[in-house]
Amino acid sequence: MQALGIIGGSGLTRLKALEVERQEAITTPYGDPSAPLTFGHFDGSPVVFLPRHGGAHTVPPHRVNYRANLWAMKDAGVGRVIGMAAVGGITAALAPGRLCVPDQIIDYTWGRDHTLFEEDLDSVTHIDFTDPYCELLRHDLLNAAGHVGVLVHDGGTYAATQGPRLESKAEILRLERDGCDMVGMTGMPEAALARELGICYACLALSVNWAAGKTDGPITMDEIEHYLDTGMAEARKVLAAVAHQ
Ligand code: HPA
Repeated sequence: MQALGIIGGSGLTRLKALEVERQEAITTPYGDPSAPLTFGHFDGSPVVFLPRHGGAHTVPPHRVNYRANLWAMKDAGVGRVIGMAAVGGITAALAPGRLCVPDQIIDYTWGRDHTLFEEDLDSVTHIDFTDPYCELLRHDLLNAAGHVGVLVHDGGTYAATQGPRLESKAEILRLERDGCDMVGMTGMPEAALARELGICYACLALSVNWAAGKTDGPITMDEIEHYLDTGMAEARKVLAAVAHQ
């Protein structure tokens, strides 16, 4: 059985219940990944785990070495990768606490190393990105959620913003006019790099707050941490089930 790659986001720097076999510090042509890769078994199924923000959650979204992270996964022989992501909910389906498997993405990030196709090229390469996520893995995630009885919303557009600050009300209204359902800071270039490497990649998003201006008052870390704690427990059940497939 081929291992499932899991890139953990905020609230998922460690996979509880992961039986660790070994950790491997991998160096790539693009530098070091956020942390050593952890090889192990999750509920009996092989997984390769990488915390996107580092083991101690110290790497902010705009400083993550996405190229090294995806390259390391590929180097480990992983064909399927799930990116866990905490997001702010913009539309009704993405209320705090809800899980979602987005099917579209808009990239509002800037200045990130976003492609592997820029040096030593034999020819210019343009990957297809019409459907930015791997449909097979999206459906595996949705089926797995069904099996373990966890409610997960199917589809939605993820707005990838630069961070690390949260957005203004006007920025969220603009994202909503653009058709975005949720907002997070790490969805890109992760999805595009996976496609460049031929990795089947999907995102499991957890809404941890209403996006700016969707409720009265500021967004608080207490609120975010509350939904990270409760939601990640549900997300882990889905990840364990999909690793079995
Ligand atoms: N905005 C951007 N990224 C986020 C948010 C948000 O409101 N919540 C969690 N990640």
